Amino acid sequence: MNPFTLIIFGITSNLSQIKIIPALYDMEEKGLLSGISVLGVARKKQTKKEFYEYINKVAYLPNVHHKHQIKKEVYERLCRKMSYIDGDLDDPNFYLRLKNTLAKESNIKSRVFYLAVYPGLYEMVFKHLKKNKLTQQKNGWARLIIEKPLGFDLKTAKILNRLLGKYFTADQVFRLDHYLGKETLQNILTFRFGNGIFEPLMNSEYVDHIQITATEDFGIGKRGAYYDSVGALIDVGQNHELQMLALTTMDAPVEFSSQSLSRQKVKILKSLVPSKVVFGQYDGYTKEESVNPNSTKDTFYALKTYIDNERWKDVPIYIRAGKMLKQYVTEIVVVFKNPINRLFKHLDCGEEPNILIYRIQPNEGVVLKIVAKKPGQETELEPSYMQFCYKINPEGHFFPDPYERLLLDAIKGDQTFFNDAEEVEAEWAFVDPLVSTRGKPHIYKPGSWGPKEADELIEKDGRAWLEPSMDFCRI
Ligand SMILES: NC(=O)c1ccc[n+]([C@@H]2O[C@H](COP(=O)([O-])OP(=O)(O)OC[C@H]3O[C@@H](n4cnc5c(N)ncnc54)[C@H](OP(=O)(O)O)[C@@H]3O)[C@@H](O)[C@H]2O)c1
Repeated sequence: MNPFTLIIFGITSNLSQIKIIPALYDMEEKGLLSGISVLGVARKKQTKKEFYEYINKVAYLPNVHHKHQIKKEVYERLCRKMSYIDGDLDDPNFYLRLKNTLAKESNIKSRVFYLAVYPGLYEMVFKHLKKNKLTQQKNGWARLIIEKPLGFDLKTAKILNRLLGKYFTADQVFRLDHYLGKETLQNILTFRFGNGIFEPLMNSEYVDHIQITATEDFGIGKRGAYYDSVGALIDVGQNHELQMLALTTMDAPVEFSSQSLSRQKVKILKSLVPSKVVFGQYDGYTKEESVNPNSTKDTFYALKTYIDNERWKDVPIYIRAGKMLKQYVTEIVVVFKNPINRLFKHLDCGEEPNILIYRIQPNEGVVLKIVAKKPGQETELEPSYMQFCYKINPEGHFFPDPYERLLLDAIKGDQTFFNDAEEVEAEWAFVDPLVSTRGKPHIYKPGSWGPKEADELIEKDGRAWLEPSMDFCRI
């Protein structure tokens, strides 16, 4: 790898602690960081020793995404690649200091700027990076990684996109949605377009409906200030769940490239017709740290939508997400129609629909639920799974974390699994009108599947939310 510097603005942020630094550790352990130097930035003054102590502390923090053993020698190797400067990103003078610091390594001409700070600072950062010629790509390259929130509504997303366009070229901007770095989400493309037998079934002739679920069995933790400014629909609906929907339903791209994929995703996002949305809030949310005691923000939502095109005509798509629910699970479920000529419909489970499950977490895999004959003399049926699972050790980390994968893609200049400006705007154009209907949320019990109104939303159509099964791809 040609030498380059990764500059992380907000190295002391929660995002750096739980995602970016652990990803760097894993990359170092796999030998993927040769030629890299990492420069952390935050306002806090700290000596080199204090910075290394901080990195050390982060490396050993209990982290659900990073459970494996931390090796001292790997951590020490990583530390040798890392340095720190304090500075206020609101201060124009800081950027000259940054430029001088970067110039000390005169052999390094390429840079990735990772913004792990809040969007209020973006314009200042963009402007002064450009003013100090740090975005120039004369002898190397310069790239920018930003992640959600990419705007707070369509209007602010457009403003952000205009700003990005003013200070960067499109090939420099990497809008990160970490769900796109998840193995199973990427595998949807291979599964659909790399095989012959599934794609012919992906249409209204065969599919009854689709369910998308992204639920967590824990609350907002210490992120109350941020979460209470957005709510569930904006936090995960506007981005992750719409990306899942687009990958599951889009037409085949003409080639495996960022532009082709994005074009197809945008077509789906622009054809979405919302039907109804239900907002919920878990009992006790308003007592959480940094949450407005009178907050009406949604910690849960469920919605129904349609895709206005020939392929998916009249196929409803039900989407739900939320916190403090019964199960930690993210999945896309395609429920197939029942043909009238099923031979065993008089038997138990004889009319169970086939369902295709893309399980994104926790037990990743792609699974087809079928009925099979129960072994024995009698003709009896039982539900079973045909499954593609990953042979992973949950304590290991051979399986790259989404941040590791996407960081590497950005370093390689590969935007395939990043969003472009049009995608982000199309997502907001769908979500904005729904957000505007947000009234008082329905209160639900922690540990439940959300408010009863969410059940009614789907039951009115003679369907029901499927209880996510953990009987396959066990980890
Ligand atoms: N945390 C997550 O899980 C997560 C997930 C997805 C996206 N994000 C996004 O990532 C960004 C950071 O979120 P976070 O929750 O991780 O934030 P955070 O924990 O509040 O950290 C903010 C960081 O910004 C630095 N900072 C603030 N003002 C600064 C200034 N004027 N100059 C220089 N540094 C400054 C802070 O360090 P000092 O105070 O020392 O300056 C700190 O390192 C946000 O845009 C957020 O939406 C976060």
